[in-house]
Amino acid sequence: MSMIAPVQPAEAPTGAVPGSGWLSGSIQALHDQGRWGWLRENREQLPVAVDELIRFVSPVMHFRRTATQDTELQGQHIRAGDKVVMWYSAANRDPAVFADPHSLDLTRNPNPRLAFGVGPHICLGSHLAKLEMRVMLDDMLSRFSSVEVTGDVERMGSNFINGIHHLPVRVAA
Ligand code: HEM
Repeated sequence: MSMIAPVQPAEAPTGAVPGSGWLSGSIQALHDQGRWGWLRENREQLPVAVDELIRFVSPVMHFRRTATQDTELQGQHIRAGDKVVMWYSAANRDPAVFADPHSLDLTRNPNPRLAFGVGPHICLGSHLAKLEMRVMLDDMLSRFSSVEVTGDVERMGSNFINGIHHLPVRVAA
């Protein structure tokens, strides 16, 4: 059986684009690292695994803020009015925070990932997005003993969303 991962329309509302990037990126990561079978056998780890998958995929790569006052960040002077770009994808692979940051560790806990941002503007839909992801993966793990990426992955050309346009996969019941 073949299945095509959801395509991400450019005009999709907030949440849908990073959500589909997260799901297809997770399927790709689970395939690449050979972790589908393990997660299927250790389903109680799903809430922890979902956090690690969003750290690993980082569907939203950055947001920008404007400094309202002069400040200093790790020795870098920032003046009021400066634009500051926060790279969540880099923060999520920070070796000072995460042991072996480029590895997908589905048992990583605690997992202080910043994939939904931080502070007063933290993603309003983060709980919904995590619930959706858990339900989707849980259902797919119940139905499919394996999910195999069978061809070239067509990535979105974007420095904002780490998304996938096309992910050909073969699933086995
Ligand atoms: C995998 C899915 C998602 C990811 C990775 C994601 C990520 C983010 C990030 C990084 C921010 C910026 C946070 C910041 O500025 O510090 C944000 C903001 C926001 N997100 Fe999401 N999001 C997702 C899904 C959703 C969903 C499903 C909804 C709505 C149902 C949603 C609604 C919002 C809103 C309204 C904001 C702006 C909050 C504010 O400025 O106060 N997001 N999201």
